Order: sequence, then structure tokens, then C-alpha cells
Amino acid sequence: MPAASSFDIKRIIRPNILKLEPYRCARDDYSEGILLDANENSYGPVHQARITQSGAGSSLIEAQPDSQQLHRYPDPMGLRVKQRILQLRPSIPSVNNVFLGVGSDEVIDLLVRITCQPGRDSILVTPPTYGMYKVVASINDVGIVKVPLIVEGDDIFQLDVDAVIQSACSDETIKIIWLCSPGNPTGTRLNEADVRRVLESDYRGLVVVDEAYVDFVRADRGESYAKLVAEYPNLFVMQTMSKSFGLAGIRLGIGMGSPELVQYLNNTKAPYSLSTLALDVAKEALSPEGIAKMRQVAASLCQQRDEFLIPELRSLPHVAAIIGGNDANFVLCRFVDSNGRVSNEIAKGLYTEMAENRGLVVRYRGGDYGCEGCLRITVGTVEENRVVIDTMRTLLAAIP
Ligand SMILES: Cc1ncc(COP(=O)(O)O)c(C=O)c1O
Repeated sequence: MPAASSFDIKRIIRPNILKLEPYRCARDDYSEGILLDANENSYGPVHQARITQSGAGSSLIEAQPDSQQLHRYPDPMGLRVKQRILQLRPSIPSVNNVFLGVGSDEVIDLLVRITCQPGRDSILVTPPTYGMYKVVASINDVGIVKVPLIVEGDDIFQLDVDAVIQSACSDETIKIIWLCSPGNPTGTRLNEADVRRVLESDYRGLVVVDEAYVDFVRADRGESYAKLVAEYPNLFVMQTMSKSFGLAGIRLGIGMGSPELVQYLNNTKAPYSLSTLALDVAKEALSPEGIAKMRQVAASLCQQRDEFLIPELRSLPHVAAIIGGNDANFVLCRFVDSNGRVSNEIAKGLYTEMAENRGLVVRYRGGDYGCEGCLRITVGTVEENRVVIDTMRTLLAAIP
């Protein structure tokens, strides 16, 4: 295991972050008693207070009980949520291995900000992949090296491992290799042997595996790469409450990696970035009952995907194939014209007609590398899936 054992995190963290003295917030010191240390409003949420006039223009203010403590700043570290994440991912050794961000999107941004020097460093991505890696790199003036996934044959949407390792090892500026498993828009879980090869290569930067869709992977296809976190200090695994837990609105992203890396991320994030409301909801969702329900719902979505959506899509005219591993809560559907030629025109036309005239919105992906002629369709409720199939059948039947 050459790289993992010789991995030196101090080499990839920016010098200004290495010597950063993080902001110390009031709640880092004390959190009980009469708290007059953080300039909060002791009357509680003011819109709930009872206010009466007590003559001569002065008011009598009666604070209402605030069971959620919304008048207090939130726990900067989200400790209770992290404790529950350890129950969801038992292979993670400690809360010190867990980072919480404002959605995975913030975690992506922070990872780039703490490792890459603007105007000098770069990240490696494997198209077709999640668009935010590139956007975040551009915002931070960080370069992008692209090593495409394999887009044909039996290994479709798997890593071109030799090319990834060769590229990463030959370019000192690459601080992060970004892998997405299951990928978006590929829906494909990356092979474990390939991920391990990258982790064990001579590349000396960080390997991030974005597992936003991991709970939709069938058990026989493999489990979360969180299981490798304790083994490889050069690995950081990202997950999110937005997909399998159905909580995209609370904005809570999860990162799991070495305590050192998590500490640098904590030092860099805004002290109170996660709201009490988000943390409370996440804690409930990550209770044993919440996790059991998540698994049930994910299983049901997968069943809809495998037993209804995919076979029905395959039976439609102009559908050439459902491509990729189908390991996520969406499918990638490729369209062809009457001559059997892959057709962006049909995909785009169908997408536009459904969105503008049928109240049915899917995602056009025909412009992504290796996704020509493709729409990405999220698995919806049983009823929504029926509507998408019926609508597509009608529209596709009308195309010569
Ligand atoms: C691969 C991948 N990573 C991360 C995200 C963003 O997740 P979050 O809602 O936690 O920011 C998405 C959202 O679609 C995604 O597809």
C-alpha cells in the first residue's frame, strides 16, 4: 500500500490553512448557565414573544418557551448528528472522522479551498461526472484535469484506472482526484479493485469518493467506501442527507476522512454554518427508526427502478438502451432515430416537450461526454413513474 502509508496531509493542505488560527466562538467555551457571551437575544424568538404595553410607552415582554433554542447559536460541530452518523456507518472510528457541511456542495468547495492554491493547483475529474466539481474549481481559479470514464463495452462508466494514476502521478499540481460512485449522471458504482488501485498508487494527493447515491446500490453490487476510511488516510468519502433521506431542503452534507483532514475543514468552515433546524431534523432522520425507514424507502425506490421503470423504458419506441450500472435513484436512457442512430435531437425534443407542455421535468444529458442521446430520469413515486412512461410512450410513438 505505497501511497496510503507515505501520504503526508501537510503536503496537500495550503500553507495559509496549515497555520490558520480558527475563530473561537462563544459556544466553544461554555454552553450552560445564564449565557450573556454571544450577543444573542435572551427574550427568545421575538416573533413568538408576548408583548403588552405597560403605560408611558414602555412594553412588558414575556418570552415564550423556546424548546428548539432557536435564539441560541447552533452547536458549531453538530456533535449529536455526528454520533448518529457513526451508527449509520459503523466502520467510521469516531466523530473526529466526520465533517458536516451545508450540503455536499459546500464540502466540495471547502475541500478545494483548503488544498488548492488558486492560479496554481488543480483537481482531476472523470467525465461524465457531477458538474459542481468543475464549477467549484472555476470559482476558486483552480485547474481541471479530465480523465474520462470508459464509455463503451462491458466496463461502461468505470474508471480508466491506468490513465487516472498516470495523469495524477505526472502532475504535481493535482491535489484531489474526484471519483463519483455511484456516478452522476452515470448511475454506476465504481469497482472496488479500481478504487483501491488509485488509493494505493504513488499519487500523493487526496482521493475523494462522492457517494451521494450510495444507499441506492443493491447489496450484491457492494457497500459504501466509508468502510475504507480507517484504512486509507488519503481517502475522503462524501455523502448527503439530500437523496436517500429525502432531506435536500435542510442542506446537510457529510464527509468522512482522517481526523487531521476533518480538523482542517472544521477550522475553515464558518463557525455556525449548520442551522439548529437542519441539525434537529438530521438527528431525527438518523435515529435507528429513521435509518430503518430510509432503508425501506430506498429499497422500494430500487424496486420501482428495476422492476418497473427500466423494463417499461426498454419497451418504448426509440429507446436504444438504459446505460450504466443503475445503482442510483435515476436511470440514463439513450434514444435513437428510426435508423438506429443515437439522437440528441429526439432526446432534447422529448425533454423540451415534456417540460413545457406536459408538466413533466427530466434532465437532458446529451451534451455530457459518453451520454449522447441521453435523458436522466429520476425514479419518482409509483404514480409519477407511470405518468413518465405513459407520456413518453405517447410522444415517442408519434416520432417516425
Ligand atoms: C454526485 C453528487 N454529489 C453531490 C450532490 C449535491 O448534494 P447536496 O444536496 O448534499 O449538496 C449531488 C446532487 O445532485 C450529486 O449528484
